[in-house]
Order: sequence, then C-alpha cells, then structure tokens
Amino acid sequence: MTIRTETVHEGVRLLTMDRPHRRNALDAADYQALATAIDAADDDPDVRVSVVTGAGGVFTSGNDIENFQDRTEGVGAGMVLLRALVCARKPIIAAVEGFAIGIGTTMLLHCDFAFAGRATRFRVPFVPLGLCPEGGSSYLLPQVAGLKRATELLMLGDEFDADCAAEAGLINRVVPDGDALEVALERAARLAAAPAESVELTKMLLRRPLRDAVLGTLDVEAVHFGRRRQSEEAQAAFAGFMRR
Ligand code: COA
Repeated sequence: MTIRTETVHEGVRLLTMDRPHRRNALDAADYQALATAIDAADDDPDVRVSVVTGAGGVFTSGNDIENFQDRTEGVGAGMVLLRALVCARKPIIAAVEGFAIGIGTTMLLHCDFAFAGRATRFRVPFVPLGLCPEGGSSYLLPQVAGLKRATELLMLGDEFDADCAAEAGLINRVVPDGDALEVALERAARLAAAPAESVELTKMLLRRPLRDAVLGTLDVEAVHFGRRRQSEEAQAAFAGFMRR
C-alpha cells in the first residue's frame, strides 16, 4: 500500500504518499486510493479535516512517468484524484517537503491550506515533457499567481523555490525544513475544533464561484493532455527520463 491513511488527532485524517523509491510518484492505484480517502473523509462524521503529505522528506514527483509510457491510457488516472479534490466538502491541508512536481504542484491549487519547507522545489514541467497544463492549473494558476507569472511557470516549466511558490499563491507559508507537517497538523487541529458546519460552509462559499469553471477546465485540459501524452515528443521525453 503506497497511500497510508491514519487518524492522528481527533477529527484529523492524515494521508501519506509513501513510495520513496520513486520519490512518491503516483500511479493509478495511488490516485484511486487518495480519491477514495478524500471521499471517505467527507462521508465520515468523525473526520473534520484531511492532511496530505509525502513520506521520506518528499511530497511527490508527480505522475509515474513509466505509466505515462502506456499509450493505451488516454486522459490519465490523475483525473479521479483531481475531481475528488475539487468536489471535497471538508478542508484539505497539504504539508510539502523536498519536491512537488507536476500534479504534486497543481494539486496544491485545490488544497485549502498548504505549507512547504524552505528547501522544497516545485515544478510544472508539462511543456518540457511535451504535454500541456493539467489539474485545472491553466485556469486556477493565473487566478492566484497572475497571468504573466502563470505563463512563465507553465510555459517554461522551470523549477522554482518555496518563496516563489508562496508569491505565486500556491502555498500559504514557507516554514523551516521538516516543519511542514507539524504546522499543517496544528492548523488541522484548530479546524477540527471549530464549528464543523461553519468550516464546510466557508470552504463551499470560497470555492463555489470557481467550481464549475475548474471542473470544465479539468475536462478541456484532459482532452489535450491525453492527446499530447501519446505524441512522439512526449513519449520520447518519458523514455529519456526512464533510461537516465
Ligand atoms: N515517475 C517514475 N519514476 C520516478 C519519478 C516519476 N515521476 N520521479 C522519480 N522517479 C524515480 C527515478 O527514476 C529514480 O529511479 P531509480 O532509482 O530506479 O533510478 C528514483 O525515482 C529516484 O529519482 P532521482 O531522479 O534519482 O531522485 P532525485 O532526488 O535526484 O530527483 C526528482 C527527484 C523528483 C526531482 C526527479 O526524480 C524528477 O525530476 N522526477 C520526474 C518528475 C516529473 O517530471 N514528473 C512528471 C510531471 S508531469
């Protein structure tokens, strides 16, 4: 099992991506397990907030690139997680260390809070990989980062640091390395102790104006992403990474 689920504090469910030999890269089973855990949290009256983190000092290196090499799969397994994140009723907090690449960065747009260790490196390398933006990032990143900065991050696909991620609105705060989970759990405990309906209503009201646009964007991005994933350019980039 590469997604660990545990209750760490009353009302707080911790979801840990734990596949260190691939820097917590996500495959179809991982996406499904995370989505199921998020849906289950919404349905469980004992859970008030979920915290998502990665084991081994790394958040996630994004989609498993070996899986990207499967040309028979169109859109990609990540959609199930992205839809679960967008539709979640209870708060989700990300605790990020090490690396957050691809969907590891774009999923932060759907988390209600995100904290990252100072040395964390972020990257949305869709264009260098011959792909295109996913995860609703083509809509949400310009909203939180501004169009010019979003274009720079998404079109060049360069690595960026935690200060840049904070300035771009991807995370709430940069924290000392190794402290992201502690800070996330402290916020989670406070939310778990707050009036539950007020917390859920606040999330709903904050996200409602964007929700339909985000879901629509996920679908449009998925069509293009699915095509690009099968392109010669993308397949060459995946093969290049896997045989380094
Ligand atoms: N998919 C599949 N395998 C991956 C992976 C991914 N997304 N990310 C890392 N791995 C594997 C590597 O192939 C390597 O396997 P090996 O030990 O069998 O050679 C192992 O995980 C460690 O990776 P490595 O690159 O040596 O670690 P690092 O700490 O130097 O670098 C990253 C970490 C995350 C910066 C780097 O692995 C990376 O850039 N990964 C690809 C990220 C990516 O492009 N994701 C897709 C986004 S759409």
